[in-house]
Amino acid sequence: MRTEGNLKLRALMAALVSTAAVLASFASFDASAQTSIKDSKHNLGSTNSTGTSKFDGTTEVCVFCHTPHGANTNVSAPLWNKTAPTTTYNMYSTGGSYSIDGTEATVGSVSLACLSCHDGSLAVATMINQPGSGGYDANGAVLAGSWTNPIADGGIDPATGKMRAGAIQNLTGDLRNDHPISIQYCGGGLTGSGTTVSGTCVDADFKLPATKLVNGNQVFWVDTAAGTTGQREKTDLSLYTRSTGGLGPMVECASCHDPHTTANPTFLRVSNSGSGLCLSCHTK
Ligand code: HEC
Ligand code: HEC
Ligand code: HEC
Ligand code: HEC
Repeated sequence: MRTEGNLKLRALMAALVSTAAVLASFASFDASAQTSIKDSKHNLGSTNSTGTSKFDGTTEVCVFCHTPHGANTNVSAPLWNKTAPTTTYNMYSTGGSYSIDGTEATVGSVSLACLSCHDGSLAVATMINQPGSGGYDANGAVLAGSWTNPIADGGIDPATGKMRAGAIQNLTGDLRNDHPISIQYCGGGLTGSGTTVSGTCVDADFKLPATKLVNGNQVFWVDTAAGTTGQREKTDLSLYTRSTGGLGPMVECASCHDPHTTANPTFLRVSNSGSGLCLSCHTK
């Protein structure tokens, strides 16, 4: 009887252990299927484990860019926790391209958010609402702390807390040597209504974008081969519209980059293997 009881117990234990193992493997499967900004170079806080620059003033990740309250609504990035740079930008179109078709607006939209660190003018740890209670300053202030582990070819200059001069991550205010941003998609000519794109691209060498109406705003994106066709997803290339100017869908930094993803190197929305990213927009 005792032996039989032990056997039953052992069988039960074995079943439990294997169930636990299966559950654990599900849990780890879930975790590995998700890509997190925590494992990327955009984890600027002290918990960064990528081996590049980290700031010892906070363990928080999102706070370098977002705040739940008191956000800067002058920058078109969600719940933005930084002040806008006051840099004068030299746009791609002033660099003398003979073939460019689209109208370039002044730098705005989500690109201004990226450039609030990536033009090298503001300290990266500048925040409107610092972690914890009582840390609000509408003009932005630099969080106390220092940069540790800055790598030689990385973007951070630990002395200034800004992007390092000469680093590729520091785009500076001279955008003539960067892919055009704040520029009309396909040279302009497109409008949208509901899920229908109307008009003709001024430059025909582009894929037609998709559109839909969300909360009264017409949003546009270029559907990529990744994900589900016809759905707007983070692996699609977002196009942005301005409330004034009627320029239609535009390309900005976050059309190509998702600042949270680790799915592809350099925060790209889709892999650029075989120039897949470029060919998602350009018909070449
Ligand atoms: C380095 C800056 C940066 C950090 C850090 C950051 N974000 Fe963002 N986030 C952005 C920018 C820029 C956008 C706008 C991107 C776009 O237009 O798609 C954005 C958009 C979003 C959006 C809306 C669009 C989407 O992709 O879903 C959410 C939600 C979001 N962030 C959540 C978070 C959370 C949560 C964290 C921390 C775990 C975080 N972000 C950290 C820069 C950042
Ligand atoms: C989100 C869509 C999109 C993606 C992705 C994209 N481009 Fe572009 N690209 C544009 C738009 C829009 C223009 C402006 C075209 C115009 O107005 O004539 C442009 C302009 C250019 C120009 C300048 C053309 C000129 O006439 O001066 C070059 C070169 C270029 N892209 C190359 C690339 C390469 C290489 C890649 C991949 C690394 C790429 N593009 C990815 C949309 C995109
Ligand atoms: C809060 C400041 C901040 C903002 C805002 C920010 N970045 Fe960054 N970004 C950084 C820092 C810091 C690094 C890493 C520098 C280093 O240590 O090499 C970085 C790195 C990168 C890299 C290089 C990644 C690599 O693998 O080498 C890309 C690409 C990038 N950012 C794009 C963007 C884009 C696009 C946006 C806007 C959607 C954005 N960033 C907004 C601070 C920022
Ligand atoms: C048309 C697509 C496109 C747009 C728009 C774009 N990028 Fe990129 N970006 C790329 C690609 C592709 C790479 C990877 C290049 C490589 O592999 O060296 C890249 C790389 C980078 C890097 C890392 C450079 C390196 O070699 O380590 C940074 C930082 C960056 N982008 C920031 C930005 C910012 C900020 C903006 C807006 C001002 C922006 N990008 C707009 C396509 C784009």
